[in-house]
Amino acid sequence: MEREEANPRTTNALLAVLFVLVCSALVVYRVGVPWAGAFDPVRLLGVLLVVLVLGLVLGLYVARFEKAILGSPAGLLRFLAPWLLTLAVAKALVAWEASPYWTPVSLVGIVYALAYSSGLAFASVGLLSLLVALIAAGPGATSPDLGLALTLGLGSATGVFSALRVRDRNKLLWAGLSVGLVQVVAALAMRLAAVDPDGLPWGLGTETDGLRGFLADPLYGLGNGIAVGFLAYHTLPLIEAVFGVTTGVSLALWADHNHPLLRRLMLEAPGTYHHSMMVGTLAEAGAEAIRADALLCRVGAYYHDIGKLAKPEYFYENTMGQVSLHDRLNPHMSAMIILAHPKDGAEIAREEGMPARIVDFIREHHGTTPVEYFFDKAVKQAEADEQGGGGRVLESAYRYPGPQPRSRETAILMLADTVEAVTRTLSEPTVNSIEKVVDDTLVRKMGDGQFGSAPITLGELARIRDAFVRRLLAIYHARIKYPRQVEEERVEGRPGAGGANGGGEGAVAEG
Ligand SMILES: [Fe+2]
Ligand SMILES: [Fe+2]
Repeated sequence: MEREEANPRTTNALLAVLFVLVCSALVVYRVGVPWAGAFDPVRLLGVLLVVLVLGLVLGLYVARFEKAILGSPAGLLRFLAPWLLTLAVAKALVAWEASPYWTPVSLVGIVYALAYSSGLAFASVGLLSLLVALIAAGPGATSPDLGLALTLGLGSATGVFSALRVRDRNKLLWAGLSVGLVQVVAALAMRLAAVDPDGLPWGLGTETDGLRGFLADPLYGLGNGIAVGFLAYHTLPLIEAVFGVTTGVSLALWADHNHPLLRRLMLEAPGTYHHSMMVGTLAEAGAEAIRADALLCRVGAYYHDIGKLAKPEYFYENTMGQVSLHDRLNPHMSAMIILAHPKDGAEIAREEGMPARIVDFIREHHGTTPVEYFFDKAVKQAEADEQGGGGRVLESAYRYPGPQPRSRETAILMLADTVEAVTRTLSEPTVNSIEKVVDDTLVRKMGDGQFGSAPITLGELARIRDAFVRRLLAIYHARIKYPRQVEEERVEGRPGAGGANGGGEGAVAEG
């Protein structure tokens, strides 16, 4: 493990070379021929070059857009394995004289769409379909089977589309059906295109054996799609486990408001529950604005403060105006309780078997920010005690242990969390005061260097800021005083005027 981490590049390069060799061998190898004659050297060289170019294109794409795959040899192996398996299936089908239209290229498309990105899934199935067509063409053929390549390629592209951000497991069955339908149409179209002018109508294609031969491959394509749908449906938990991903299907289960953990939060920490729901709405808007994963953001927000269940009454939002328990504690003790909630949350999450992507929200939502309220309180106490020997207050003792947000989604949550906690304390929200809260939060978190590990740009932060303001104005619509109203009240001398710049952090608006 350590050696792998020490130099994954060398191992990755070896894996890539091995991949090219095995792919080429699978394409060229003649089943049933004795080993000495099983490889035609000239054809092997040609195919080797084709696979090499194809591998280079794929490698460049991965290195540019999917760097995480190259992070460890195990990751690269996970990515390459479906390629080799599919080619092996194609080879076996050809060897057993079954139709290569049964090759499950679209399953690779669906798996990659779930595990990686649409771009990588499209690129992979396109190239994979060409290789399968090369295999199907066999050693005697002069060119790959274009009809097969096109049928499998179009079918798989449909699979990628249908599986993107899928939230309902049944949709995978529908994805399979759409793959099948596209494949039947594509295969029929290619059949028609290849028919001689005098081959139709009932003799159909010249090289086919009537209607049966004409329709066989298109129907196999249909069967292939349906089978792939069933396979994807039943192996989804396995796909998630092998590729270490949380698909929308699993996320949707955690998004259910009736989830036992959320019900517990609602009963034992109602303030935190309400806060979490509001943060969810806000974070979702932020994610939509920059095309990040909005469902993941919302679900992450629902559970981000689950650690407060360990001591709910010590958090401001659950005190319901009663005397704060912190009055009896020194600032350091108070801070210790507050600082522990991400760690406590991760613990509860582990016990509940929560997917790692949601746990990231729990661990990263405060980054390494300080608990300012208790730090300031400690500083004031130390200043007062100075003559009595009070020591210096160490700021690091009042900071969350981190890690800082490492994804765009957790960065959005960090902002949404603070923005929600602070706007809740505004006595009279106005457009200006809401904008000020969002801007101040953004500046503070950026100034504190909290987004150093998140792949988020300034342009994206600006779009998130606007989305937050819009969503907050919608949430507080009934309570908001618009500028004209504020001005009228100021002129009339009514009480409650002049709230435009009011607000700020409440006693313990920690989020
Ligand atoms: Fe929070
Ligand atoms: Fe929190």
